[in-house]
Amino acid sequence: MLLLSLTKLGLLAGAATAASLKVVKIGTTPDGSTAPIRGWNSWGTQAGKYLSDADYNEGHVRGICDRLASDLRGNYQLCGLDSGWSVGDHGDEYGRINYDESKFVIPRFASYLHSKKLLMGIYIVPGAFLNDFNKTIEGTNTKISEICGATNGLARCRLKYDHPDTQKWIDSNARQFASWGVDYIKLDYITPGSNDNGVDLPPDESPEVQMWHKAIKKTGRKMTLAISWKLDRTKPYFDIWRTNADSVRVDQDIQSYSRTPFTDWSRVLRTLTNYLEWINAAVANYKTIGTHPNLDTMYVLNDGSLSGLSLDQRRSVFIHWIGASAELNLGDDLEQPDAEGLALLNDGDALAAASFTANYPMQPRNPGSGGNAWLAQNAWIAGPAPSGEFIAVLANYDDAGTKTVSASFGDLGVSGKYSCFDVFGKKSQTTSSGLSASLNGGQSVMFRCTRAKRRVAGRRVVNAPR
Ligand SMILES: *[C@@H]1O[C@H](CO)[C@@H](O)[C@H](O)[C@H]1NC(C)=O
Repeated sequence: MLLLSLTKLGLLAGAATAASLKVVKIGTTPDGSTAPIRGWNSWGTQAGKYLSDADYNEGHVRGICDRLASDLRGNYQLCGLDSGWSVGDHGDEYGRINYDESKFVIPRFASYLHSKKLLMGIYIVPGAFLNDFNKTIEGTNTKISEICGATNGLARCRLKYDHPDTQKWIDSNARQFASWGVDYIKLDYITPGSNDNGVDLPPDESPEVQMWHKAIKKTGRKMTLAISWKLDRTKPYFDIWRTNADSVRVDQDIQSYSRTPFTDWSRVLRTLTNYLEWINAAVANYKTIGTHPNLDTMYVLNDGSLSGLSLDQRRSVFIHWIGASAELNLGDDLEQPDAEGLALLNDGDALAAASFTANYPMQPRNPGSGGNAWLAQNAWIAGPAPSGEFIAVLANYDDAGTKTVSASFGDLGVSGKYSCFDVFGKKSQTTSSGLSASLNGGQSVMFRCTRAKRRVAGRRVVNAPR
């Protein structure tokens, strides 16, 4: 990759004045977190049965998640079980969701993970089991049938949100999860969102998200609530998601649903387009968003035969997932890393950038205009923080062909003199004009910029006045 000095080339002269930049932060999420979860989710390899149903069990997954502690040095902590860990058609004596002990004994697995400083994630879908209608909700005389309407198409009922004991059924589940040592709950099939789901979901399950948030709070245990998928972005619903869920999926599944490869570049681009729409909605409505966008699992660790992505594309995925507030959940086969994948994921500069973007999600700033559209060659900015620090991403999304992508500081919405560090290229430059890179198709570059220090009479002046 060739970095060009725009000043020398005179490319910035006469650039149009861009709209001013509205900086947005994530802030604190509903469970009190100031940093997103990082780790692994089993659906990344389960979707196409690369991780077979037979191998989806505690013994095997323990070996997979051990790699989070060893190869990935504890930089990624979540061992997230997706669909299939629980009994699928009925609950326990109180109709509570229960683990399938032929596959996982969750309290035992959670305590194993905690002993390795890892986190236990589970997956659930809305509603109580149709087969549990005659069971009594724990601590009440109410039968499950009383809080239930018709089927939701998932062997479960549509909950009656106006029944006072519906909250109690959800509370009883959250209490049980807390007692098992669960750290993360993925609640799938939430509407509005989850479009074209092929099941029979009620049109508005947002009360269920609110009830889960309440139930988790009551347990006193910190448990992340991640909701899925492609949730409605209009303000009334966005308001509910951001005040009740710690993580909100922006798109449908990224998986190919073939055994291998797990995904491809077109699915990455679809996901990023949806992130762009999500963050534009967030920027329009909030200064502090209060929840993390989730881009589904990222594929960075495995070579192209497994991931479906070239090394340039894998680095681009990592750069964009970091930029999008750094909810970094791998979908890869953790047992088949390649050297490049390990180097990317354990890169200290990348992880430092992720600590910054955890609070400052990137937003699009189009080269040449500062607009926020999806462009085949685009630029993004995260921040700046009050210190002036920001992160910029330049990307060439075309499959083929090298392009020079240039964003002036005016385009990005900042001004002044900055020292900008190319996070993966490991080179710094000082500039007051902007950033530029020659990028192959699918290639991206991430810069971490801080105000340039100025030497005056032998003394260093930090944050020199502009
Ligand atoms: C609940 O009990 C009723 C009456 O005994 C019975 O007809 C029904 O099949 C039972 N339902 C379930 C889901 O067990």
